[in-house]
Amino acid sequence: VSSAVRTIDWDGGGVVLVDQTLLPDRFALLRIGDTAGLCDAIRRLAVRGAPALGVAGALGVALAAVHGEDVDAAAAALAGARPTAVNLAWGVRRVLAAREGGAEAMLREALAVRDEEIAVERELARRGADLVLSLCDPPVRVLTHCNTGALACVESGTALGAVVEMHNRGALGHVVACETRPLLQGARLTAWELGRRGIEHSLVVDGAAAWVMHTGRVDAVLVGADRITAAGDVANKVGTLSHAIAAAHHGLPFVVVAPESTVDAAAETGDEIPIEERDAGEVLGWGGRRVAPEGTAAFNPAFDVTPAALVTAVVTERRVVRPSRGERLDAAGAGEPHRP
Ligand code: MRU
Repeated sequence: VSSAVRTIDWDGGGVVLVDQTLLPDRFALLRIGDTAGLCDAIRRLAVRGAPALGVAGALGVALAAVHGEDVDAAAAALAGARPTAVNLAWGVRRVLAAREGGAEAMLREALAVRDEEIAVERELARRGADLVLSLCDPPVRVLTHCNTGALACVESGTALGAVVEMHNRGALGHVVACETRPLLQGARLTAWELGRRGIEHSLVVDGAAAWVMHTGRVDAVLVGADRITAAGDVANKVGTLSHAIAAAHHGLPFVVVAPESTVDAAAETGDEIPIEERDAGEVLGWGGRRVAPEGTAAFNPAFDVTPAALVTAVVTERRVVRPSRGERLDAAGAGEPHRP
């Protein structure tokens, strides 16, 4: 995905997005003309990643308004389509707040959310790279989880955006991408993005991450977030907590790169974050084929929460906060572009 093809955009009166369920085998765009279709795409993870979900929420409410749908019902359905990434409800709220101006004003606001997101992503890449390079000597070898690149955003990414920026500066070593069971965002999406950019990488099973750290193969762990609380607890793709514990044990920096729209300052700790539980079938099989014995039960949380004590730094477009030192993420203050 380059600036020529955005992960999600508004086009010809509807929402157009890269169908991420088809990657890496097929790159295809999905055109969506109603909010029911968009909710379905969100639930199926055709569009995914916290920042992309924020833009989906914003464009979705505009879509409802432009097409004369019941805007309140559409907003509620969109905001509830996935519960953990706070960006989704945030994007919905931003456009709802413009409803007095009618459908045109709502669409204008949704496009502003998209444009701000693109600018924020550029800033995150720059600031994320600066922070990592202040902690580690180049060439920096990075371990990452899930997909935090262009596919999780609009144009460039959060944590993976910082990785690409380090690559562009000639300061990046090898990247270790965790496959990210059960839906393999690391294997399918991150490996695809890194490969297209010519960035040297290898894929590991999630269970290999601690061994990768133990054997001195990486210098830092870099991830995104779906929600960050005032105290600095970080919800992200399940498996992130294990990486944070392993990073702390091995004395490696654990760095989170995320936009301010991912900060939920109204939540004090991770106990207040709703954790999405998905279908057991995602764990019990793959590609339509059951791999566990019939009748096996499964627990399938899509996210976990890394406590602040394990988070070396949170980098947003506006600030660097050190939760493990007791620093907090209360509301970012005046001039903040990302809160209505
Ligand atoms: O279930 P997903 O694929 O939407 O989960 C995505 C993640 O957990 C990402 O790490 C997070 O949204 C940060 S994306 C820049």
